[in-house]
Amino acid sequence: MTRPFFSKDRISHFDIFEKHAEDALNQAKARLREGYPVNFQDMICRFTLDSATEFLLGECVRSLSAGLVYPKNSLPGQDKDYKNHPSNVFARAFLNAQTNAALRSRLGSFWRLAEFWGDCIKKEMEVCHRFIDPILKEALATRRSMNERKQSTGQARTKEKGVLEDTLLGHLINCTDGKTFIYSPLSDLHSTISARDTTASTLTFLVYMLSQHPVILKRLRAEVVSTVGSCRKPTNDDVRDMKYMRAVINETLRLYPPVPFNVRTSVGAVTLPGANGGLPIYVPPKTRSVLHPLGTPYSVLFMHRRKDLWGPDAEIFDPDRFLDERLKYLTSNPFIFLPFNAGPRICLGQQFAYNEMLFFLVCLLQRFSSITLAEDVQTRPSAGWTEGTGRHSQEKVVIKHHLTLYVEEGLWVRMEEAGDAEIT
Ligand code: HEM
Repeated sequence: MTRPFFSKDRISHFDIFEKHAEDALNQAKARLREGYPVNFQDMICRFTLDSATEFLLGECVRSLSAGLVYPKNSLPGQDKDYKNHPSNVFARAFLNAQTNAALRSRLGSFWRLAEFWGDCIKKEMEVCHRFIDPILKEALATRRSMNERKQSTGQARTKEKGVLEDTLLGHLINCTDGKTFIYSPLSDLHSTISARDTTASTLTFLVYMLSQHPVILKRLRAEVVSTVGSCRKPTNDDVRDMKYMRAVINETLRLYPPVPFNVRTSVGAVTLPGANGGLPIYVPPKTRSVLHPLGTPYSVLFMHRRKDLWGPDAEIFDPDRFLDERLKYLTSNPFIFLPFNAGPRICLGQQFAYNEMLFFLVCLLQRFSSITLAEDVQTRPSAGWTEGTGRHSQEKVVIKHHLTLYVEEGLWVRMEEAGDAEIT
């Protein structure tokens, strides 16, 4: 039901992104001018939530209207009104529901036992429903009045038709013919809105990488300025040609895939081919995942960092691997890169996400010329992380995951505004 909605050309309409990107970046500029760093992760989550709710539900949750967070230890950071702003209450409930849902999925069928004394998601979901239900009711009412009008006059109003055709919610209601409203599309919507976290996660880690690799940032800005200029709004044609930016996005998706772990359950018995010439693996029917009887998830994150698949420099952040001869690793085996999964349940929002990320990055780099980690505010990894030899030992931020990958306590950055001389 959902797929046709994404295949239409509406995913390349940049108008939705434009006003929210403008809002987010103006607020960031103002905050930096006040002398405070910006929590980029929080800001980008607000941008993607506002864009996603408008695109999918036709109504924006206006999370940017609450303003950006201040560092916890600052005076404005203690403000209680800010915490109780309706959009912050929604965002918090949504985050808690996701964190608890991730815990459930890790516990497998034992989750009911763990929640014997109480459902740990119910309260959070009530908050989410308070936001979503009125929107659903209104869409259903529109559908009903359309049906009635059609029955009496033989024609529906164009305006009502538009409302239902322009959003995913309307599209789903149209598919159910408005007669029976099943609550499963609602849960689909929840999972779809969580699409905002995947996009936000990619942009957060990308900006983290730019803060660590100023040379890459400079090259990226040069591409933005030469393709789009210093202040023009990017078009679909512009972003299609931005090869280096796509490579930077892909390299971020490779090293920091937003969905780092996943689980599958076998429908029937199957024998999988053995890895590297090893013995084949028999998987009985109805078996959760394939690695462990308790349902250990398989990991795209670990696969994306494997030297046998990506070459000896697999752990290094280097976008050129998507442009130079190292591309051979991917072309000869496309399934080594699975940030969006593959097969029948591949991400439906993949192109929407690329468009959204490309658009936002162009706007960001038109306005700012350098990005540094605000080390005075940033939560740093503990000694246990920095010891050892793997990539994690070089991280300057604490990386965690619930359903998606995120930076603990946010990614705090300072950015320098692009001067006129620099842009031209
Ligand atoms: C960088 C951004 C994104 C990443 C990395 C990503 C990743 C994924 C992954 C890995 C899945 C498969 C989950 C599974 O196998 O169980 C998925 C499914 C899905 N994604 Fe995305 N996603 C992104 C953005 C989006 C956006 C922006 C939307 C919507 C606007 C979206 C809509 C969906 C939908 C509807 C599904 C379910 C498909 C199905 O079950 O048939 N995604 N995504």
